[in-house]
Amino acid sequence: MMATASQGPANAAGGHAPLHGAWPQAVPYGLVLRKMDIGDLDRLTAFHAELHQLSHQQPAPFVREKDVFFAEHLTSAGEVWGLWENAGPKYQLAGYTVVGLPTASDPANFGRDLGMDDEADLALVAHLDGTGVLPHRRGLGLQRYLTGYRMERARTLGRKTVISMASPQNSFSLSNLLQCGLPVQRLIQKYDALRFVLVRDLSGQTTYENDPHPVMVPLLANPEEHVRCLQAGRVGIALRDVGGTFSLVYAKRREEADQ
Ligand SMILES: CC(C)(COP(=O)(O)OP(=O)(O)OC[C@H]1O[C@@H](n2cnc3c(N)ncnc32)[C@H](O)[C@@H]1OP(=O)(O)O)[C@@H](O)C(=O)NCCC(=O)NCCS
Repeated sequence: MMATASQGPANAAGGHAPLHGAWPQAVPYGLVLRKMDIGDLDRLTAFHAELHQLSHQQPAPFVREKDVFFAEHLTSAGEVWGLWENAGPKYQLAGYTVVGLPTASDPANFGRDLGMDDEADLALVAHLDGTGVLPHRRGLGLQRYLTGYRMERARTLGRKTVISMASPQNSFSLSNLLQCGLPVQRLIQKYDALRFVLVRDLSGQTTYENDPHPVMVPLLANPEEHVRCLQAGRVGIALRDVGGTFSLVYAKRREEADQ
């Protein structure tokens, strides 16, 4: 399945309001979006390894996935979409993004990290599970574009809740996911590190109480400070740069607006 700048994305929103302003639009910057298949496995794993090597932060603040993770998501466990650029005779991979489509019984279903135990709810979860963009293509909005696209794919495929994870060390990724309407709902230990759990219900629009004095917690503060805010019923909704330090802004949800 292929989407080009002239065609627009392959799966149009189908009469629904778009889930994020970055999508649906033409694929940006002359790139081509194509669903990857098992024949792309070697290229994808090499690309992922290269991103880890190139990371300015070491260890890199994103999960080092095993090859089997990609093999499964290229086949039965979800979808991987590649952003390709036409450099010379061959298309080069400029980025990729993973949508996980776990079963309800999958022990790795991220819904379990939120305390979901109802099989029917777990069956409607989709994972926004990893995006990578080559350094020369960063800062152009591609992660937000790909996140908007993945949310549309999840909705098209009948999923209702999208869940993602981001390290407190990965402010770019965290900021992008927050801007795509996924607030932080938990902070957990996962993949041997701390991860924020970000969640969006695709069937509703969450709004927040208008708080003139929002609670802000530096991203790299003692994790207890984040946990206290979350346990008090707040969710993290935005990143703010306070004197060169990123803080997570917490707000209370306005529940009735979810209906
Ligand atoms: C995190 C990552 C996917 C972001 O991709 P991206 O396409 O550059 O992100 P976007 O362009 O959508 O986001 C733009 C924002 O990121 C910032 N940004 C990220 N990387 C940047 C860079 N190298 N140069 C400039 N700005 C950058 C911009 O400041 C911009 O901020 P804004 O909110 O003011 O617009 C990319 O940096 C990457 O591949 N990192 C390694 C893998 C990773 O961490 N993946 C995420 C976890 S799975």
